[in-house]
Amino acid sequence: MTPPIRFDNRVAIVTGAGGGLGRGYALDLAARGAAVVVNDLGGSFDGKGSSTSMADAVVAEIVAAGGRAVASYDSVSTSAGGQAIVKTALDAYGRVDVLISNAGSLRNAPIDELPDDTLDAMIDVHLKGGFNVSRPAFRQMKKQGYGRVVFASSAAGMLGNDQQAAYGAAKAGLVGLMNVLSLEGAAHGIKANALLPTAMSRMSAAMDPKLMEAAGALYAAIGDKLGNSADPAFVTPLVVYLCSEACDSSHSIYSATLGRYARVALHMGAGWVGPRAAPPRAEDVAAHWAEVCEKRGAEEVHSLLGEFELVARRLKAA
Ligand code: NAI
Repeated sequence: MTPPIRFDNRVAIVTGAGGGLGRGYALDLAARGAAVVVNDLGGSFDGKGSSTSMADAVVAEIVAAGGRAVASYDSVSTSAGGQAIVKTALDAYGRVDVLISNAGSLRNAPIDELPDDTLDAMIDVHLKGGFNVSRPAFRQMKKQGYGRVVFASSAAGMLGNDQQAAYGAAKAGLVGLMNVLSLEGAAHGIKANALLPTAMSRMSAAMDPKLMEAAGALYAAIGDKLGNSADPAFVTPLVVYLCSEACDSSHSIYSATLGRYARVALHMGAGWVGPRAAPPRAEDVAAHWAEVCEKRGAEEVHSLLGEFELVARRLKAA
């Protein structure tokens, strides 16, 4: 039988834990013994305004259930906010074992109508938000020789979605951060992964109506098989496992969608090996386009050096 997943003597920071997916992560981690920093700016879905009530409500729920939690109202969008969130954990509990970088807000616009302030807001809260909290957390985890980090990325960035250039690019950028943080953390017992979640929340309710209509039609087509699987609670088990000592995975991307959990990976085709003494012409590339695009024999590549190794192997064999 799988041993129970516990977080006794572990300290977790969950950003954006005042509602939606983050609230579920915080409640479950606390129920499994973690002391939790419940961070939330407490504003609206599009990142406007602030309040203490969202974080306070989740802390009250945790404490009422016999758990340990403190509230943090700092914004992940600034470096000072990120440092203050980590300081809250250190002041209250003396360490940081788990960081779930989950806070976020949503503003959509077609690329040619995307205002600068929307672009800045999305980059600040998602991409810089990931850096602002993970840098101070990483420093502490390195001292401890232990850490688990999960970044909330999105299929909107990793796969694409209309009207979400700013949001999607910021979210895809977090995968770049995760790739490097996991490599640099490996020697220090720090593991990091990225998440592509899907769940109904106040944020998903604000998605492009055309997308929601198409999703509604898909849901209707599967009928009873959908069950309750669009509930945020269905994402929690994967995230909690990724945050646990039991999980060996690092440097990976996982999707949790409608009760289906899957690893998502980038593969590189064997490709076309061109001339070596002088570069080919554009016409040569065009002539070998089918080989360039061939998917058979594609391999997963884990780093920049990994790509060099793959090409070197291919050249040796050619
Ligand atoms: P949500 O809007 O319910 O939760 C986000 C939380 O972050 C809110 O409680 C909000 O107050 C907080 N927040 C916003 N700006 C903040 C800031 N600057 N500092 C601290 N807290 C801040 O949305 P949901 O759906 O729970 O999303 C959680 C994460 O998952 C987000 O990063 C979102 O982009 C991502 N995601 C969600 C998907 C979904 O289907 N719900 C799909 C893909 C990604």
